[in-house]
Amino acid sequence: MLEGKQILFGVSGGIAAYKAVEVVNRLRKLGAQVHVIMTPAATKLVAPLTFQTLSGNPVRTEILDEPKQWNVEHISLAERADLMIVAPATANVIGKMANGIADDYLTTEFLAVTCPVLVCPAMNFNMYAHPAVRKNLETLRSWGHRVLEPESGPLASLAVGKGRLPEPETIVRAIVDILGSGAPASRSPASGSAESGTPESGGPGVASLDGKTVIVTAGATREPIDPVRFITNRSSGKMGFAMAQAARDLGARVVVVAGLTSAKPPDGVEIIEVETAEQMRQALLSRYEMTDLVIKAAAVADFRPAKPSTQKIKKTGQPAAIELELNPDILKELGELKKGQVLVGFAAETVDTVNNAKKKLDDKNLDLIVANDVTDPGSGFGTDTNRVWLCWRDGRVEELPLMSKVELAREILGRVAPLVRE
Ligand code: PMT
Repeated sequence: MLEGKQILFGVSGGIAAYKAVEVVNRLRKLGAQVHVIMTPAATKLVAPLTFQTLSGNPVRTEILDEPKQWNVEHISLAERADLMIVAPATANVIGKMANGIADDYLTTEFLAVTCPVLVCPAMNFNMYAHPAVRKNLETLRSWGHRVLEPESGPLASLAVGKGRLPEPETIVRAIVDILGSGAPASRSPASGSAESGTPESGGPGVASLDGKTVIVTAGATREPIDPVRFITNRSSGKMGFAMAQAARDLGARVVVVAGLTSAKPPDGVEIIEVETAEQMRQALLSRYEMTDLVIKAAAVADFRPAKPSTQKIKKTGQPAAIELELNPDILKELGELKKGQVLVGFAAETVDTVNNAKKKLDDKNLDLIVANDVTDPGSGFGTDTNRVWLCWRDGRVEELPLMSKVELAREILGRVAPLVRE
């Protein structure tokens, strides 16, 4: 399955290094050529000879060791690699990787590779939740590298929390997904293509959307009162753009139907600009048949002025009231026309968030609705973060912690991508 693939396997000094032994063993059985690089701390936890015996290749530990070949060895390894994995990746090694520090073989190699990189963090749960670690992982992701989220469970200290290295089969599956799926591979920034469509996932399994078409709506609709005035809302487009970026990173062809936005759209996606809900509706309906997944993160105005004036309304002749009428409910219409598409809605709520969102899930025939309480600090409109509940068709409700919209988008797509593949 991995015949002929060259894998650079970085092992840093976490107690979970023992699991890396089994991963190397399995990779070799699948036909890969595995070259292990250990940090000095890792060699104190597992003997290099163990990795050498199982991989059938010399283990690199010291950058200034006698070269085993005539060329600059670490560069030649980097050039040949199809994938670099770091498992376990400690907080220390993640920090070095995210900040360009190359003071050992592993981190030097990381700077030299242009192949996809899979980072498997493993550490104490408080360390994993620390803003410094979150930021460093975010940096690695923003360069197109994949991060396989650690699992929750008892840690080395016996405390329970998120920080465990996933089991060997999960790691091997993620590697096979990257190398075997034919999905566009994440390249190191050194290759100059980190922005150009790279698989990426915050969730385990790194499912791909290769070959799928995803439409994301973002921002606010703008409903004219007259040529200079309009009704709108506070949506910045950040949530929608984050969803688009995450879908792009999983290999999808992404079309963003964007209303009024203030955030910067991601590269590598098609943007269709619209103003009103009716224009958004037309843009979606005309592409719906060819679409596999629709994500409606846009804040659509429920009402619009019934009779927008063609001329600026004068101060002197101002109406006593502006008559409003209902806008079409775009998502409900898509739910009625659904033929195999996966539909994801967002619900902006201010009270009874989950119950109100569930009603929308049923009413609009959705597969998932992402409920956010837009009065919650750090959540909803204009923020860089969001805290949501995922309400699924089968009645499950998952509460997610506050996280960046970019991370949240990956979490959501990590769960939705397998439904699209089905
Ligand atoms: O853009 P940001 O500043 O990052 O803010 C993000 C957000 C708060 C806008 C986003 O997280 C969010 O909640 N988006 C949905 C906003 C909304 O319109 O919620 P709603 O509960 O009114 O609508 C439910 C769903 O139906 C939404 O997917 C909406 O796109 C869709 N809808 C609503 C009305 C309508 N006429 N047509 C629709 O398709």
